[in-house]
Amino acid sequence: MAVTFKTQVAIIGAGPAGLLLSHLLYRAGIESIVLERQSRAHVEGRIRAGVLEWGSVEILRDANLSDRMDAEGLVHEGFELAFHETRHRIDLRGLSGKGVMVYGQTELTKDMMDQRHRDGGHLRFNVSEIQIENPEGEKPKLRFTESDERTTIECDYIVGCDGFRGISRQSIPSDVLKTYERVYPFGWLGLLTDMPPVLEELVYVNHERGFALCSMRSKTRSRYYIQCNADEKVENWSDEDFWSELKMRLSPEIAENIKTGPSIEKSIAPLRSFVAEPMRYRNLFLAGDAAHIVPPTGAKGLNLAIADVSVLAGAFDAFYSKGETGKLGVYSETCLRRVWKVERFSWYLSKLMHQFPDSDPFEKKMQEAEFEYIMQSESASRMIAENYVGLPIET
Ligand code: APR
Ligand code: PHB
Repeated sequence: MAVTFKTQVAIIGAGPAGLLLSHLLYRAGIESIVLERQSRAHVEGRIRAGVLEWGSVEILRDANLSDRMDAEGLVHEGFELAFHETRHRIDLRGLSGKGVMVYGQTELTKDMMDQRHRDGGHLRFNVSEIQIENPEGEKPKLRFTESDERTTIECDYIVGCDGFRGISRQSIPSDVLKTYERVYPFGWLGLLTDMPPVLEELVYVNHERGFALCSMRSKTRSRYYIQCNADEKVENWSDEDFWSELKMRLSPEIAENIKTGPSIEKSIAPLRSFVAEPMRYRNLFLAGDAAHIVPPTGAKGLNLAIADVSVLAGAFDAFYSKGETGKLGVYSETCLRRVWKVERFSWYLSKLMHQFPDSDPFEKKMQEAEFEYIMQSESASRMIAENYVGLPIET
């Protein structure tokens, strides 16, 4: 039997963007529903990045979502860039006045999922065949199948928080949508292990064998990455192979202190820069990875998603509480101004820190010169610091 019900904002996707938007709308007294094609366990089991900009920390604290983050997260005041065996610390606190919070996206997703359930949030998992109808009309609809039952949602607005491979972006007419993309000729092979991190801060390495990153989730759980071929298969990498290659890319004083252990997760992520414009089409909005992708080098994907939905939730609040449509009207422009600057930083750091298979001797010299300049110029280091801790979010 077909079912129909109404809500104010229908959200596609229960990743960080969809969950946070649903929570922020709830706090503003705005009804929403979140439709997710995977199970709750699947969403909560995803291993993703682990660095929160300070603006993201403040948004989560203001939204009363930060108890576990503040109890278990690690505030970092700096990180290192290493070029072959030369190390340079970026003093985030000294150069930008801010730090970052090391707290896994996996944990944040669980925190938001738990809070939505405590608040009686309307989250539907394992839904399929979602169709967006009439996004340009006054009353857009979402149709979906759940437990073999076709359901229709009548709503005021639809928000695509369905990630890079979702359906919402495709609902923007091709003569309206413009996309920009850069696919990088390599990937990141990541390993998670319950061993203490090798250092107290993150270290990004550009070694002639390739990029490496020493990160963490806590004082007892480490996360490491090594650059690999774009077509590499994770099954080709034993834990031993990973540890051996990682150590070869680190300076001896770091390599000799790596505490290796069995992988509890190992996966390969492709690297891509991508932006879709506009982030709104009539009554359909895009937020998070549905609208943009950054290479993980700058740890920006999650933070961009948080910024988008913070702006969008404020715009919906102005509309529903005061009838003001101005912020909704400029949502796309407001977010894209910042998205492009974050794309720039992520691209800049990726170009600086990776070995590009097709780079010529001149480009290698440019990498070396850029690193030398960063080491000797406080201004250059400050540029990196202020982007890493997070650019201001227009509201
Ligand atoms: N119907 C319903 N749900 C969908 C559909 C669909 N057709 N397509 C995708 N989804 C769901 C996915 O299963 C996922 O749970 O949408 C969600 C999108 O979540 P993310 O991909 O995590 O994107 P976002 O919420 O924008 O968060 C961005 O997450 O993946 C990381 O690196 C990314 O850190 C970034 C952050
Ligand atoms: C991570 O810990 O997963 C991580 C940290 C920093 C990055 C990317 C990933 O830039």
